[in-house]
Amino acid sequence: MNKVLVIGSGGREHALAWRLAQSTTVEQVFVAPGNAGTAIEDGIDNVVLDVNNHQAVIQFCQLQNVTLVVVGPEQPLVDGMVDDLSAAGIPCFGPSAAAAQLEGSKAFAKQFLEKHNIPTAAYGEFITVAEAKTYLQDKSFPIVIKADGLAAGKGVIIAEDLAHAEATVEDMLEANAFGDAGSRIIIEEFLQGEEASYIVMADGENFLAMATSQDHKARDNGDVGPNTGGMGAYSPAPVVTADIDAKVVETVIKPTLAGMAKDGMPFTGFLYAGLMIDSSGESKVLEFNVRFGDPETQPIMTRLQSNLDQLCLAAIAGELDQHSIQWDSRFAIGVVMAEAGYPLGNDKGNVIQGLNEVPADIKVFHAGTAQQAGNVVTAGGRVLCVCALDEDLKQAQQKAYQGVKAISWGSEYYRTDIGFKAIK
Ligand code: AMP
Ligand code: GLY
Repeated sequence: MNKVLVIGSGGREHALAWRLAQSTTVEQVFVAPGNAGTAIEDGIDNVVLDVNNHQAVIQFCQLQNVTLVVVGPEQPLVDGMVDDLSAAGIPCFGPSAAAAQLEGSKAFAKQFLEKHNIPTAAYGEFITVAEAKTYLQDKSFPIVIKADGLAAGKGVIIAEDLAHAEATVEDMLEANAFGDAGSRIIIEEFLQGEEASYIVMADGENFLAMATSQDHKARDNGDVGPNTGGMGAYSPAPVVTADIDAKVVETVIKPTLAGMAKDGMPFTGFLYAGLMIDSSGESKVLEFNVRFGDPETQPIMTRLQSNLDQLCLAAIAGELDQHSIQWDSRFAIGVVMAEAGYPLGNDKGNVIQGLNEVPADIKVFHAGTAQQAGNVVTAGGRVLCVCALDEDLKQAQQKAYQGVKAISWGSEYYRTDIGFKAIK
């Protein structure tokens, strides 16, 4: 029986921990630091650990006989948590720091894509304002400007015209709007089409595809408003037809895993390709993430039927080719409830009402929540993700919104159209 430690505190980590706790081969799940949702789950315990201190994490794992660590967010991966825990003999699922550069540096990712002929937007890479401005002169607009480093989903600006593009370049390279993350920038062609998330579990060579999904990155209904970490997701995503799926595997996933192995950084972990699919069904890579998506994890985990711990351990052993993965065939949809100011603002500490009035077949994953004097309170940003399953996506959507309507804290905000692209 496995004892699993999940690193992180978001909705993604609640969903991963919840699914792991249901595995027939898991006896105990710890989450560091977790949230109010993981605190109240059967079989899950939050632990107070400084996850930046890899030595402290190693000591905890040794003391508790942890048999598997699953790292949720990108920062500890980029910081080498998998390298350090693996060196201490602790099975840790995720990419090495070297492989995590696929997300940690957009310049690394673009160079990699170009080198291995994997479809992506045409681009330039810059560290000076003068060169960036010269590059912009003969370009068409909109154009996309990205900070090289990790910027918590905020480092991508779509510039509508030359003036906006020049101002953004100055902001990033001179005014340090994104700190070190923006001391190098990518300027790339604006791609048209429909976005989808294609996520696989990889063992350095082999992979198992996760169910397809689609996120909603814009804050407001109809995909307008500022870019966010994601306001809701559903799975499967009908935009990824069987043909497109097969093409993505051949043109993106296989060459990425082969290229990383060839370059001496075999990729083990969840690999997330953010794709733009054009009207002729061709997909280009917008970005890589080296971890599961949030909120995609929540609906996808709602559908996963296999023992996730067994798959993670098989991946660490390089034996994913001996495994398959089972899914609930129904649609799952997850609606994010955020604090009204999200993605800006800092409102928190509001008591969440109604969590116990949500119908039993709806799963509420917590993200920004905390326990305070016997209440569950908001802790800012994205607060909850309310998930429902149904054979029919529209029914799943209605169920999820029934759950959403049962919950309130006064300043909640959510989109009312999650799933609209597949329902219209
Ligand atoms: P990224 O973090 O690179 O995925 O960018 C965040 C969001 O910006 C994406 O989900 C897209 O909606 C948008 N985006 C990024 N790159 C492009 C591009 N080349 N063309 C159009 N939209 C883009
Ligand atoms: N939902 C997008 C992400 O996790 O980056």
